[in-house]
Amino acid sequence: MKVRILRQQTPFSEPYWEVFDADVSGDTSVAGLLNYLNYHDDIVDENGRQTTRIGWECSCLQGMCGSCAMVINDVPRLACDTFVRDLGNEISIRPLQKFPVIHDLLTDRSSIYENLKKQNVYIEKYQPDTIKNRKKAEKEHQHQYDAAKCLKCGLCLEVCPNYVNGQSFFGAVFANDCYLVSSRNSEKKAEIKKLYGEHFGSTCSKSLSCMDVCPMNIPTIASMAKLNK
Ligand code: SF4
Ligand code: FES
Repeated sequence: MKVRILRQQTPFSEPYWEVFDADVSGDTSVAGLLNYLNYHDDIVDENGRQTTRIGWECSCLQGMCGSCAMVINDVPRLACDTFVRDLGNEISIRPLQKFPVIHDLLTDRSSIYENLKKQNVYIEKYQPDTIKNRKKAEKEHQHQYDAAKCLKCGLCLEVCPNYVNGQSFFGAVFANDCYLVSSRNSEKKAEIKKLYGEHFGSTCSKSLSCMDVCPMNIPTIASMAKLNK
């Protein structure tokens, strides 16, 4: 198969496409394919020209950490959870476009964490404070669990028509975390309501494309419905 990869040596250099030949089984993941291409010291492109190792990022290799997010055949996906058998004989791989490229397929997604940290949207300690809250927590447990599965991979932000890195709309990641924190900490409710309005509610146009690409199948629309209510 032919594998086209959009490469960029440094954050400030021009991107360019490079094409490689690969011979791997359909059961190989795109992460495995990248390892296969990077395996030899002498990496050559389809014309036999020597080139450098392809930069990309991974950790768990089992769809649990979100670090291998990239755009594969024009769809934002996790490389370790996408298999060659589903992609055909021509595969294109490029970095996420909504985040600054560091090197090849490696992008800087620190803004996701910085936004959550700056706004203080995280749970410090889970302790339902009243019987009423405890009952509510039990009732909402399944959706809280779903919202907590967010990997912070950024795939939802890549497809969101409203998300532009560095601007004040923070996207589905933020909405799910707002829901999670406000449903578990009644003291933060008023503060979260304000932040949610500022950084999500007033800008989201409800294309809901975030839910089409989320690898954890988080029902963001349910978080939105609860917060809007
Ligand atoms: S909501 Fe889904 S797509 Fe978005 S960062 Fe979390 S896991 Fe990734
Ligand atoms: S390496 Fe962890 S999700 Fe792919």
